[in-house]
Amino acid sequence: MLNSNVVKLSVFAVLTALAVNLFYPNLFWREPPVAITINATYDFIVVGGGAAGSILAARLSENQDVRVLLLEAGPSDWGNPIFEIPALGMLAYDTDLDWAYTTERQDGLFKGMENERSVWPRGKVLGGSGNLNAMVAVRGNRHDYDRWAEYTGDQTWNYKHVLSYFKKMEDMQVKELRDSAYHGKDGPLTINWMNSGPLAQKLVEAGQDLGFSNNDYNGKSMEGYFHIQNNVANQKRLSSSKAYLHSAMERPNLDVAVNSHVQKVVIENKLAVGVEVIRNGRKLTVSARKEVILSAGAIGSPQILMLSGVGPRNHLEDMHVPVAADLPVGENLQDHVTVDIAVGINESYTYRVDDFSSPWTLMQYHLFGTGALNVPSSLEVVGFQSVTPESKEKDWPDLQLHFMSIAGTSDFMRRLRYTEGVT
Ligand SMILES: Cc1cc2nc3c(=O)[nH]c(=O)nc-3n(C[C@H](O)[C@H](O)[C@H](O)COP(=O)(O)OP(=O)(O)OC[C@H]3O[C@@H](n4cnc5c(N)ncnc54)[C@H](O)[C@@H]3O)c2cc1C
Ligand SMILES: *[C@@H]1O[C@H](CO)[C@@H](O)[C@H](O)[C@H]1NC(C)=O
Ligand SMILES: *[C@@H]1O[C@H](CO)[C@@H](O)[C@H](O)[C@H]1NC(C)=O
Repeated sequence: MLNSNVVKLSVFAVLTALAVNLFYPNLFWREPPVAITINATYDFIVVGGGAAGSILAARLSENQDVRVLLLEAGPSDWGNPIFEIPALGMLAYDTDLDWAYTTERQDGLFKGMENERSVWPRGKVLGGSGNLNAMVAVRGNRHDYDRWAEYTGDQTWNYKHVLSYFKKMEDMQVKELRDSAYHGKDGPLTINWMNSGPLAQKLVEAGQDLGFSNNDYNGKSMEGYFHIQNNVANQKRLSSSKAYLHSAMERPNLDVAVNSHVQKVVIENKLAVGVEVIRNGRKLTVSARKEVILSAGAIGSPQILMLSGVGPRNHLEDMHVPVAADLPVGENLQDHVTVDIAVGINESYTYRVDDFSSPWTLMQYHLFGTGALNVPSSLEVVGFQSVTPESKEKDWPDLQLHFMSIAGTSDFMRRLRYTEGVT
């Protein structure tokens, strides 16, 4: 039999190590280095180190012969538990780590929301919105890509072609799906199911009872009710900064500059030749020998283009921005509209708000990887349904249903932080 003091001591050591790892990760792991100074010229300048920019900078710098600069307005995501513990991503909302946009008031819209505005969180940190999103690994429908190929005339957008990239990217850990023709297992982006509560299990079973699939919404057919495939590795959120960028940051040909807010692209003779960036309160100009790549997000990229004089002439002239190219930038933005439906139940299946902040929950998460903290912003089950005969026939669902164990609109969640003290 083991000496009980040895057992106690080991338990104590493990708990201490976990606590230290949580609050002082640098003691265990080397922090991926960010650039202290930046050079005057690079081959590629990538603007915005979010979901897309992290991958672009990492993949471009695999070629040792090119010099790459990644400019990110926010700080590094390294070591912040908000970006590790799945349920905590929403604690970034409305802080310095969020651009915290709200929509303008619009007639007849957002009646139930604070100031009749919709809240649009956008990550302002390495990893971008991928560090505060709901971690749902979901592709578009095959018909979406085929339609892109048709509209653009560029066949590399068709489903068959993009599927090869989805597979290349993935490290699918769900046993049942690892060997599927629709998934990859050698890529950097780990995908797995997460522990979900009894309610999630019942919802998926209810879908099955109604004759719906519960197999794989990223597979052959999208329709059904499913456990969510998550961007998660070892119970931790996996943004593309973690999957791709952190390990690349040691490379001598890549500089990752954080807290660097790009003001505009420098354009000479219709050619992008560099960027203007504010860093440590100073404005710098950096030149690009080959390309400037904008990956500042659906709001950031068009904004930078317009500040650079690329946009609708009338609008730019109203704003006194010299016009470099009169183009319809900033149009056709599409929000994915959601309608929230809350159903009260009379049994305690769900997590309560208090569960997110209790010390027991933190311990439960670290020791067993279970509990309220191991759900990504509470989303647990997703359903896709085709509601018209046409969408049914094509298997092109037009309704997406998300089930979460805590009901709330984005501004409800935000209010929660202040009034209920989730932080
Ligand atoms: C709350 C929320 C939940 C979501 N849930 C999911 C989900 O479950 N599944 C899913 O697939 N998708 C989800 N998404 C969407 C997904 O996160 C985005 O599609 C994805 O992050 C977009 O990647 P991006 O690189 O274009 O932009 P982002 O990831 O937003 O990155 C843009 C980066 O550019 C930086 N930047 C902006 N302007 C400048 C500037 N002027 N200078 C320097 N840097 C700048 C930003 O700080 C940011 O880091 C969600 C999004 C949100 C907001
Ligand atoms: C920046 O310039 C220095 C000095 O020329 C050089 O050694 C370094 O490799 C450059 N950094 C990058 C990422 O190109
Ligand atoms: C909910 O449960 C409580 C306690 O069991 C019971 O008194 C009450 O009638 C129930 N309410 C409904 C709507 O079922």
